[in-house]
Amino acid sequence: MLNQIEQLKQQLLADVLVVKTLPQLEEFRVRYLARKGKIAELFDGMRNLLPEQRPDIGKALNELRSLAQSKFDEKKALLEQSEKRVEARLDLTLPGRQRWVGSKHPITQAWEEIRRVFFGMGFTVTLSPEIEDDYHNFEAVNFPPDHPARDMQDTFFITDKILLRTHTTPGQIRVMESQQPPIRVIIPGRCYRNEAISARAFCVFHQVEGLYVDVGVTMTELKGTLVAFARQIYGSDVRARFRPSYFPFTEPSAEMDISCTICGGKGCRLCKFTGWLEILGAGMVDPALYQYVGYDEEKYTGYAFGMGIERVAQLLYGVDDIRIYYENDVRFLQQF
Ligand code: PHE
Repeated sequence: MLNQIEQLKQQLLADVLVVKTLPQLEEFRVRYLARKGKIAELFDGMRNLLPEQRPDIGKALNELRSLAQSKFDEKKALLEQSEKRVEARLDLTLPGRQRWVGSKHPITQAWEEIRRVFFGMGFTVTLSPEIEDDYHNFEAVNFPPDHPARDMQDTFFITDKILLRTHTTPGQIRVMESQQPPIRVIIPGRCYRNEAISARAFCVFHQVEGLYVDVGVTMTELKGTLVAFARQIYGSDVRARFRPSYFPFTEPSAEMDISCTICGGKGCRLCKFTGWLEILGAGMVDPALYQYVGYDEEKYTGYAFGMGIERVAQLLYGVDDIRIYYENDVRFLQQF
């Protein structure tokens, strides 16, 4: 029996060392000190001893029990104290630390705004390749063979006939090649131009093309649609004007200006003191394009427009250097 007591003592001393938390300490107490614990069990076993053995064993068991109790008390004091220290270090009134979980790029956000507005007017989204051929990018959208935009100066050519699209207008041809009217689509995407890089020009940028072809489509509808678009994006008091312009693929052509979003038309640095900001090009689809795609030009009319997404984002978010959209500087991106 003395042997058993000694064994239990060694085990108890080992067990108390690994106790690291108050719940573990409670387990320790239940195992050794509780009424059905191991020490109580040994006390029960004394019933079977001869009377002359009892005093020694009783003494040894009493010592074991007070050892267990004092180990328990020590550990309890220790654990309670360290818990208090942790509490003292925690200031629950401090604001929590916010982690940045990432956000959509401002160009994506501007595109989603544009898409939302045109969805509301019955347009659907179509994609068109970024790597184009000369035919779709220039020829079928009616660029004369000697047009300056075909020049190496502006266009990134991959081979003689393959290039990075310089605008989303070839998407008009691809849609019309594959579908019959009525057509009402927007075509977003990256475009590339080999231009001198500056605050207002970068080698890659984004456009959204719009195309509506059906029986009896008029310029009035084009204007109404674009004015409704501008009001939904820039606010209901924005004013718009159309200036005559030229594009090979529209006739007549126009550029649309809106009243300056900063000064409201009084004149400021953003609008170069004119009160107006140019936001897109547009016009009635030139019937020459219908010949390329095999539409009946007597039957159908249509309008098209194209806008730069960077420009939309600039006016929405007040960013005046477009290069910053492509630097992926998180200090910039975190603001959106
Ligand atoms: N493709 C023209 C550009 O890149 C924009 C445009 C599209 C103009 C459709 C008219 C109609 O500037």
